[in-house]
Amino acid sequence: MNKHGKIGFDNITEEEVGVPLTYGTEAFLSKEYAEAEKELLWPKVWQMAGRVEELKKVGDYISYEIADDSILIFKTGEDEYKAYHNVCPHRGRRLVDTPCDQNRACGNKRRIVCGFHGWTFDLEGKNVHILDPQDWQGSLTEESTALSPVKVETWGGWLFINMDPESEPLRDFLEPAASILDAFQFEKMRFKWRQWVIYPSNWKTALEAFMEPYHVAGTHTQLLKYGQFYAYSKSYGLHGVSGFDERDKSMKMAQSSSVTRVGAGADPRVSTYELARENYETVNFAASTDTLVAAAKRLVDELPEGTAPQDVIKHWLASARADDAKRGVIWPDITPENMAEAGLAWHFFPNMSVLQGVTFALCYRARPYGDDPDKCIFESYAIERFPEGEEPETEWVYAEPTAEKWGSVLAQDFANMEWVQKGMKSRGFRGTLPNPHQEQKITNFHRNLATFMEGRGAPKVLKK
Ligand code: FES
Ligand SMILES: [Fe+2]
Repeated sequence: MNKHGKIGFDNITEEEVGVPLTYGTEAFLSKEYAEAEKELLWPKVWQMAGRVEELKKVGDYISYEIADDSILIFKTGEDEYKAYHNVCPHRGRRLVDTPCDQNRACGNKRRIVCGFHGWTFDLEGKNVHILDPQDWQGSLTEESTALSPVKVETWGGWLFINMDPESEPLRDFLEPAASILDAFQFEKMRFKWRQWVIYPSNWKTALEAFMEPYHVAGTHTQLLKYGQFYAYSKSYGLHGVSGFDERDKSMKMAQSSSVTRVGAGADPRVSTYELARENYETVNFAASTDTLVAAAKRLVDELPEGTAPQDVIKHWLASARADDAKRGVIWPDITPENMAEAGLAWHFFPNMSVLQGVTFALCYRARPYGDDPDKCIFESYAIERFPEGEEPETEWVYAEPTAEKWGSVLAQDFANMEWVQKGMKSRGFRGTLPNPHQEQKITNFHRNLATFMEGRGAPKVLKK
């Protein structure tokens, strides 16, 4: 268990996390709250700063920009990374300022040379050049002239940083989510596409639009003909998961999951394909794979009419697995119990979401943009397992929040976020009434956020 997230606020215990809760709008709207996040949240928490495949050669670096801080992450060896605050110890110039493709810096350096007076550092953060050091009369030390280190660790192919030298190891912070998800082998996946936008809502408003399937019935109405979207949502310490309920239990033995489900309708061979195709095409080719959709399309040819839904799923997944094996993409073995526990989509505290399948994942991250609580940097990307050597070259692409750029489903989500941000400012809004079962991931997020934010914005029990 991590060192955070054990304590409930307003006397809410772990057991009571499923009781009806309410919280106000401070965390979304207040400038003071956003300022406080800079002190109480971001410098204290592990955050996903990139993927290891972004750093291929020794000396490759990216920066991670969060609030007023910029952090440089370097590849320093095989599976070795070092991170530093992006600031020169001399007079505080930002060391690397060249913007790259995503409101950040990137490139390759063996030596980091400050552009102001030329102080120079190696990849270990050590100062290797100072002009006229004798002028300091011996008062400079190795420590005072070195770069300020930041913790960096990896899990699942992601680079995580933490500015707090006292923080727990990444693995402890991610548990129990990490152990539940290890089997998916995200470290073997590579970027398929990545897009970002500066969006007019708080970073939490944006992230929460993707944290619960309770909104499918009201937002993605075109999907309702394919099945039931009644979802559970569950907290695991700092993190949380959502998935589809009991209805999938009969599918367990077929290694079904919340994301590879049988479609509703008279002929499951047809509706399973239609659901898979619709999910794939309208979620920007992220919530499935070419292999899965092609195998689903063949169901009607390969199976007799009247095949039971669980046999349709079983056949679909077995043939997709065999198709992938032929092209060198080997599916990981995930037990049915593990698959069921892993659910549909995870929220990793504080600002990362992952919707996972056996060979793919659709991910989100949201960060504050400047000091404005009404704006955020919203990013979404797909990762997938590719045959070795066939991984696509991708870069971050700025994409306006339209159906054309993101697919119609994500555009429907975008269409809510801005209006939630505006709506919460109404003097007629009495505070949130989140669904204790289907939106527990969100109340858990606010409960945990409050433990970092000294109780600000803590959810309260809704009185009957
Ligand atoms: S501020 Fe960097 S060398 Fe002077
Ligand atoms: Fe959605």
